[in-house]
Amino acid sequence: MPEREQWQLSGDAAELYERYPVRYILGPWAQALVARTGLKHDESVLDVACGTGVIARLAAEAVGPTGGVTGLDLNAGMLAVARSLPPPRGAPITWIEGSAVAMNLANAAFDVVFCQQGLQFFPDRLAALCEMRRVLRPSGRAVLSVWRIMGVYHAAVMDALRAHVGAEVAARFSASRVVPDADELDRLAVDAGFRDVAIEACRMNTRLPAVDRFVLAHLAATPVAGAVAAASVDARSAVADHVRLALRAYADGDGVTVPDESNVVTALA
Ligand SMILES: C[S@@+](CC[C@H](N)C(=O)[O-])C[C@H]1O[C@@H](n2cnc3c(N)ncnc32)[C@H](O)[C@@H]1O
Repeated sequence: MPEREQWQLSGDAAELYERYPVRYILGPWAQALVARTGLKHDESVLDVACGTGVIARLAAEAVGPTGGVTGLDLNAGMLAVARSLPPPRGAPITWIEGSAVAMNLANAAFDVVFCQQGLQFFPDRLAALCEMRRVLRPSGRAVLSVWRIMGVYHAAVMDALRAHVGAEVAARFSASRVVPDADELDRLAVDAGFRDVAIEACRMNTRLPAVDRFVLAHLAATPVAGAVAAASVDARSAVADHVRLALRAYADGDGVTVPDESNVVTALA
């Protein structure tokens, strides 16, 4: 079996990740995920696979200066961007480089553990969920999201890459959408010892700016950045045109508005 894609970025991709996918795609989902969790002042929060820290910063504002937030990620480049961004008003954030499947964190240290779009990349998902439960206080909350569908934008980009760059690059790009379904998520959470496990299918419309330019900036912020940069100018331009044409039914001003869906898992330790 091929090794699972661990969604690792290199070079300046982490900085572009914050500027494009976080701003336009992950950021709105992060706001909804943190809002639905009802964080209280003083709470201690862990953001697993924090990337550039979009969830961690929102959580820091919500728990206030007397709370605490830790962001953990495998990727040093992501954490470097997280550290470089202006700290939010609210709790101090500690950034830790490490793996979700073996976290160097004390037992029962957190009230809430978030993981937005990380579980699908972990080499052992059950081990990661066991770790999340271990670091939660009794009755602490876990809140995770994984995509529920390929989504029209991602499907268009995958088709464009397959047609103009290569099937292997298209498959690597779409790895973020190769995810456990609701039954598998439920089984994993229960096997990890969580109780009151609930899975909710959530929908959101994503507004993207001029999509032929956006798609190339977005690809530069993904693990296939190098392969796309190495493609010819004509191939990159064909990718941009392909995506623009595929999404013309979703045109919204100079950009597009596309529907997307995530499964959100909530559970108690
Ligand atoms: C799609 S990004 C999501 C980042 C962030 N949660 C967000 O919403 O922007 C996936 C993240 O998972 C991280 N990751 C992948 N495997 C990991 C592991 N085993 N342990 C910790 N982080 C991991 C990657 O480095 C990357 O930052």
